[in-house]
Formats: sequence, structure tokens, C-alpha cells
Amino acid sequence: MRLLTSMMLAMFCNMNSHAQQLNIIPEPVSMQVHSGTLALGQDISWTTDVKSASLSLAKAQLEADCRKNITGLNTTNISLTLLKKEDSGIGAEGYLLEIDKDGIHISANKENGLFYGLQTVRQLLVTPDVPYLTIRDYPVVGWRGMMLDVSRHFFTKAEVMRYVDEIAAYKFNVLHWHLTDDGGWRIEIKSYPKLTEVGAWCVEKYGYYGEFSAPGKDAKYNYGGFYTQQDIKDIVQYAKAQYVDILPEIDIPGHSMAAVVAYPELSGTKDAVNYKVYSGEKGFMDWTDHGIVARYDNTLNPAKPEVYKFLDKVFGEVAGLFPFGYIHVGGDECAKNYWQKDPNVTALMQKEKLKNYEEVQAYFEKKVEAIVASKGKKLIGWDEILEGGVAPNATIMSWRGEKGGIEAARLKHQVVMTPNNYVYIDYVQGNKYMESKVYENLRLKKVYAFNPVPAGVDPAYVLGGQANLWTEQIFDFSKVEYMTWPRGLAVAESLWSPASKKDWPRFVEKVEQHMKLLDRDTVNYAPCMYEPDVTLQSGVCTFIPEIDGLEMHYSVDNSFPDIKSLLYKGPFVLPEDAVMLRVVSFKKGRPVGRIISIPVAELKKG
Ligand code: ACM
Repeated sequence: MRLLTSMMLAMFCNMNSHAQQLNIIPEPVSMQVHSGTLALGQDISWTTDVKSASLSLAKAQLEADCRKNITGLNTTNISLTLLKKEDSGIGAEGYLLEIDKDGIHISANKENGLFYGLQTVRQLLVTPDVPYLTIRDYPVVGWRGMMLDVSRHFFTKAEVMRYVDEIAAYKFNVLHWHLTDDGGWRIEIKSYPKLTEVGAWCVEKYGYYGEFSAPGKDAKYNYGGFYTQQDIKDIVQYAKAQYVDILPEIDIPGHSMAAVVAYPELSGTKDAVNYKVYSGEKGFMDWTDHGIVARYDNTLNPAKPEVYKFLDKVFGEVAGLFPFGYIHVGGDECAKNYWQKDPNVTALMQKEKLKNYEEVQAYFEKKVEAIVASKGKKLIGWDEILEGGVAPNATIMSWRGEKGGIEAARLKHQVVMTPNNYVYIDYVQGNKYMESKVYENLRLKKVYAFNPVPAGVDPAYVLGGQANLWTEQIFDFSKVEYMTWPRGLAVAESLWSPASKKDWPRFVEKVEQHMKLLDRDTVNYAPCMYEPDVTLQSGVCTFIPEIDGLEMHYSVDNSFPDIKSLLYKGPFVLPEDAVMLRVVSFKKGRPVGRIISIPVAELKKG
């Protein structure tokens, strides 16, 4: 009888653990599910030997989640324990999680690990009971970053804090904050107040950034904003409570129009006194086959001593605000055409024996590295800083694919991998006829294939990886979320879970469950994985779904398709006079994603 009972229990547990798959993102390194389940209650009783208040925010978040999902009246016991004897296998960020009849037990070498254990538990508190289990978990890389551009569009202090909440829940630990660019200077610098009095404001425009009409003479430069030094301290402290370091970026010597407008003497161009902060108007830069040509000089001039005096002050204040060990100094996409016409730059080249303009930028970067080092910080920059001779201790952020990272590691420099072809989450993530116009596509499946340690790189030099969210076409915070999720989930799993644990079909199932959590928490996300790409070639229309198991129905008669509309069975001839193609997906008979509407004239253009 006992045997029968335990067999039945085991069967139930198998069924149960199958029916109630554990949808943890990122996937833990190892997890064993045991017989038995723990009934959860709304109230939590904490047992902990962590003395400081450092985990109080995480505990409060977990309690709030529990109240949202769990109705059980009994109490859930959770213990948090710092290991007396270090478990060297799980490192500083790993954790051990045990769920048994007595409750939920998290242990770790460090508080960071307890925090990540709590994030995993938050994802388990979605059903009335959880199976007994054992998890042993730790990340594959130590730098798990997300970059947010707040220059092209400004996001408030509260929105940045919310973004921290969202990424920390998926075990990201760096927020790279792109604070300055042509479109706005966002950080208060007390020794140069015009940076934010003038440089933080542009003209409010809507449509496609980069193609806006030129602001008229009376246009109001009152759109934007900035963070006071107190705001920054608050955000840094808030992020620290969630084990997120903030990496500030001051993007120089290119991308500096906002600074040049505030202080034209930083430029080598006399006309800079007439410049305005960039509002996204057409014709600011030319992207030619031979490089970038600036129509307006948006660079800091490398031959001017006052530029280095300025940078010394700026980086002094930045270093005082951000405890993280690195400062990002940009270095990307610096147009050299104004330097080529500048006699002071020519004189500098002669004096310093610089052979070309890449070497001029390298000269600049080396001076910047010395300034950054004098403030006790390490320099990190975009992969352009490799050109012309890299500064001795620079860390490289590889964005133009993986090649910069591979080269930097070969030169024995540390790297953070942010290759645009895998993790530029400003790129279009779904059907291109439906999404904001950006020049490249990057679907969830491709992001999921991201490997922060690509073949050909010595892993010893790879600090980790990061996704980058540029915000030219992102006008509000809801769109920030839309572009981040669910692709951020794919990045999170790529940066934390071993490659052997990655499984695309299973990941898609987990994403579907996490979409419910995002709904619960009113976090916006894109349903693009349900929406096929559509091509038209020689009159034949093809749908290319991103995930398996979709039934795609469509209309060519200007109606809104439903489950009774034409079922896509393979490439078909589009009726000659059709003007609108509409597609909608179903999964197991239920509508998923949105109706895609594509004017046939657009489809014909390709
Ligand atoms: C970059 O995307 N310009 C770093």
C-alpha cells in the first residue's frame, strides 16, 4: 500500500511537474525536481542571517508578487543564508535553492547570490504550490548589461528606476547609461552649467527621427531634460540595492553636438556659435562608403587644451557620482572631415608625429584614458578606439559585430561583447511593414543565438555581454519596454545560462508564460514572434513564421482576417488586383499577436 501510494505520488508529481513546467528565465545551470509540493501562502516568514538592509527591496518585491498571485492562507517560509564555508563552484553571484516541506531555502557565498535566488523564487510564485526542488545556479559571464540611450529621447528618473527593476529581475547587473549625444546632454555638471541649461533641450518633433524637417527660426528648444546630481545619486543607490552597477557614458569626441552648442569653444569650428542641439532633422551627417561626413562639426577638438581641461572637470564630477569602476568615453562614429581642415589639428599631427586622423583620435583617447585613470577609474569605449593604436589599459565594447572584440582580446585587452547583429535591440524585431523604420532587423530568435564568448576569443578577456537600446525612434518609456521585451529575455538567458541549457522551442514556451507576468506588472512587450515576415516575389507571397505551431490566416479583400479566413498552407499567388494583405496568427485555436496589415504597393517595393 505504501509502495502504491508513493508510486501514485511520483506519477502525480511527474504529471504535476510536467503540467506545471517551471518557467525560469534565465534557465538555471542545474535543477532537479523532487516528489512533493510546497503549498504557498500569501504571508511570508523570513529567516535570515543577513544583517544589513541590503536585501530589503528584493524582499519587498517578492512579497508584492506573492500577494498578486497566491491566495493560500498559510505562511511561506523563506530562509536566506550566507554560506559559512565558501562554495567555490558558484562564485560571487551564484546561489543554491532548495524547496522542501519546510519551505524555501536560499544560500549563497555573497548577498548578490541571495538576490539572484530571490529573483528565481519570484518566478516560481505564480501557482498555488511549487514542487520540491534543488537548484544550483550561477552565471556564465560577470558583465550582463543593458544600455539605455537617454539622449535622443529623455526618460525620467522614475522611468530609469523602473527599467532597473525590470532588468534586475532577469539577473542583469549593469545598466550602461548613454548620457550624452548630439540630441542632448543629460547629466548636471556643476563646473559647466550650460551643458544642461542649453545642451539638454531640443525641439519636440514626431515622425521618423533623422528625417524631421529643420526647426524654424522661432522653434522652441524646450524638449528634453536632465538628471540633477541628486537624481543620479538616487538612481545609483536604487540600482545598487538590486545589484545593478551603473556605467555612465560621456560620448566623445564625436556625438558631441550638445556639448559644442553649450560651449562652442570646445569646437575647432568658428561657426559652432550658431549651432543648435540636434532635434533629429534630416541631413545632419552623411554615412558614405568612405566614412562618416559631418555636415556640422559635432566633435570636441583634439588640438585644444581647453577640451582636456573640460574633460578633466567633467570626468572628475562623473567619477564622484558613479561608484562603478569604469567610465565609458564613447569614441564611436567620430567624423574627421572638420579636423582635416583645421590648421591646429595639422600642427598637432606634426608635433606628435601622427600619420592619419585615426591616430589623432587615438592620441585623444590616450589623453582621455590618463584623465579617467587620474579619477581612479578604468576607461571603456566603443571598438573604434582600437583604430590608430589603442590606449594601453582600455576595455573595448565591441559593437560593429564581433570582430572588434576578437581583435581586442588578441591584443590582450578586456572586452564586452555587444555585437549589433545579435543585441542591437533598437533594430526592427518583427514584420518590417508594421514596426518603426530602423535600417536593420533583429528578431528574437537571432538574439537568442547570441553567444557572448564567440569562437576565436580567449574567454579570459571577455568580461561579458550587453544589449544596446538606442532611442532615436523611441519617443516614450512604453516603447522602451516594447523594444526591450521579450528580446531582453533572450539576452538574459544568453548571458547567464550555459549554452548546453539553451533550447529555442522551450524558450518560446517560457516567453509565453513570462508575457503573462509582464501583463500582470503592466510592462509593455512586443508580440512580434507571432507575426510572420512576408515576402512577395514574382507575384508569389510567402509567410515566414518565427516560431513553430502557428496557424496563419489571411485576407486579400480588405477585411480583418479571423480563424475562418484563408489558411496559409504555403506560398500562394497574390490576386492581381489585391491592395491590402492582412495576416493574423492562431495557436491551438486561440488568436496570438496582432493583425498585420501590409499595403500590397509596399510589399511590391520589397
Ligand atoms: C554605436 O552604435 N554607434 C556604438
